[in-house]
Amino acid sequence: MTAKPIYLDNNATTRTDPVVVAKMLPYLTEHFGNASSVTHEYGLVAGAAVSEAREAVANLLGCDEKAIVFTSGATEANNLALFGVMRAAANGKHLIVSAAEHKTILDPAHRLEREGYDITVLPVDEYGMVSPSTVRAAIRKDTALVSVMHANNEVGSINSICKIGETCRRAGVLFHTDATQTVGTVRFDLSRMPVDLLSLSAHKMYGPKGIGALYVRRGTPRIRVEPLFEGGGHERRMRSGTLPVHQIVGLGEACRLCKANREVESKRLAEIRDQLRHGLAASVVDIQFNGHQTERMPGSLHVSIPGVNSNALMLNLRNDLAVSSGSACTTLAPEPSHVLIAMGIEPSLIPSSLRFGIGRFNTMEEIERVITLVSVAAKKLRKLSVR
Ligand SMILES: Cc1ncc(COP(=O)(O)O)c(C=O)c1O
Repeated sequence: MTAKPIYLDNNATTRTDPVVVAKMLPYLTEHFGNASSVTHEYGLVAGAAVSEAREAVANLLGCDEKAIVFTSGATEANNLALFGVMRAAANGKHLIVSAAEHKTILDPAHRLEREGYDITVLPVDEYGMVSPSTVRAAIRKDTALVSVMHANNEVGSINSICKIGETCRRAGVLFHTDATQTVGTVRFDLSRMPVDLLSLSAHKMYGPKGIGALYVRRGTPRIRVEPLFEGGGHERRMRSGTLPVHQIVGLGEACRLCKANREVESKRLAEIRDQLRHGLAASVVDIQFNGHQTERMPGSLHVSIPGVNSNALMLNLRNDLAVSSGSACTTLAPEPSHVLIAMGIEPSLIPSSLRFGIGRFNTMEEIERVITLVSVAAKKLRKLSVR
């Protein structure tokens, strides 16, 4: 059997941890009950598993477990945050988002605009980051919600959401953050952070696909969220649908593992990432590193290699390396990355960009091999383009 390509696309998705899979399996077989069936043993067992998972999610985020609303993933959590808050807002039709947000924020924002809401899309700096002063300047009397992502899924820069959240709080405006890329590796304590709503997804943190959550702060002032669809109101009346118990159990276990290993794991990821950076800097002439180099996700590296088309490079290395040129959700669309454009990256470098996402199952040995693979392929492709 030939070896599988080295997987360095952990920003797109992560392998479900075998510990998570083992925890999920019984909830597909013997514990198959409906968590809402409180009249018998099957339902009670399922309900208890959901409660345990909810506690694990809340524990990771440092919040009240009643603040967790399970969704089908971060796409739904982001849609619920934006549509839900804006449609329920009594005295404001203005929404602020940043230009580097994931499409799961930008597309709902543009839909709201078509429905008659006012949208401000904030510029980002050369690292893809939003400055709190830009947020402050954009807030109006009728602003109902600000949504700024925690870490950017393409370039890995981390926004200072506490400062942005503080700005919003002072202005009496709700603040949502899409923390899909960071909850597994960065410490959160929502009981102390000025964050009102937060989205996350299990498959970015070694859990299964198809499950995520929206954190909706409890207490005053009360946050009203109109559901996206109706049908039983299972999750605090904000989200309906029979709870996918095995998925929720998987998310809970993924959160438990991340919490238990977060500090050690983040340090290891950053060491591997730095090794990759040093190795590429030394072996690929003129390589450019994008995004903020210190305020960034531990496992993320984004580069541009002048004179090398990243699609050609990925094709060349297809049997050895799984990497991407940007967001998995937009690689199907042949458009240049809106994030890199918003950052003002030199247009000729955009088709030469690559995203490396290092994860729990990568090793230093793999990284040494990747450095060689990329540098050899880059040299080869440059020679071809000179001819
Ligand atoms: C920052 C960010 N937000 C939202 C999503 C969507 O998450 P999901 O796949 O859980 O719907 C992704 C996934 O690519 C992401 O990276």
